[in-house]
Amino acid sequence: MDFLQAKQLIQERRSVRKFQDKSVDIQDIIDIMDCARYAPSDTNSQTWEFVVITNKDKIKKIEEMTWEALHIKAEEATEKGLDKPAKLLVRSFGPYATAFSGAPVLIICLATPYESKFKEKIFDPIGFVEEDVWAEEGIKSSCLAAQNLMLAAHAKGLGTCPMTGPVLLAQDKLREYLNIETHKEINMVISLGHPTEQPKKMARKPVDDIVTIVE
Ligand SMILES: Cc1cc2nc3c(=O)[nH]c(=O)nc-3n(C[C@H](O)[C@H](O)[C@H](O)COP(=O)(O)O)c2cc1C
Repeated sequence: MDFLQAKQLIQERRSVRKFQDKSVDIQDIIDIMDCARYAPSDTNSQTWEFVVITNKDKIKKIEEMTWEALHIKAEEATEKGLDKPAKLLVRSFGPYATAFSGAPVLIICLATPYESKFKEKIFDPIGFVEEDVWAEEGIKSSCLAAQNLMLAAHAKGLGTCPMTGPVLLAQDKLREYLNIETHKEINMVISLGHPTEQPKKMARKPVDDIVTIVE
């Protein structure tokens, strides 16, 4: 693959929120997950795991949990007199946080604790950083794996959408429902399926605005 092909793959990936009512071949799922694990990770710690849900009833249940949590938040805001943000939460954020509802596959991306010889032999004994920093370290690598899997899916003609909406709202319920152990963080969920839409390109900040070259 040359640079232009790689660039095209990266640029043409879109967040897809509308899917055909068609399952995804299990071999395609395995191929995509195989690509996820080639992401870089700190000291090759591979701080990622994935729960792949292919059961439509279970995906529906997660959608219901998300709405339920959202309505509770909206009611709490209304009680505090915050009517406008409460309404916006339901009308705007609700559909955004549940945009996985039509997907035949939902991938729960987990970040596992960062462990390494450096941590064990150097960092922990000297109290190098607060413990929270290691949780972030796991998340960073998990995000890179997520991007790999989304690009791999796109290369197969499949659509994905990375989503933190359901995690921000219903993380505890999701954890309980899927029996996810407490030491594993729920990083994001990614919907996966055969797209029925080719969403328009979202504007990006110009390179000059985001890059500082230090010579
Ligand atoms: C961390 C993160 C969280 C996101 N959460 C949601 C979400 O909850 N719902 C949703 O529909 N899209 C979500 N998105 C997708 C973004 O809206 C999308 O990536 C952005 O608008 C750019 O569009 P593009 O992916 O098509 O280039 C999320 C993306 C990221 C990286």
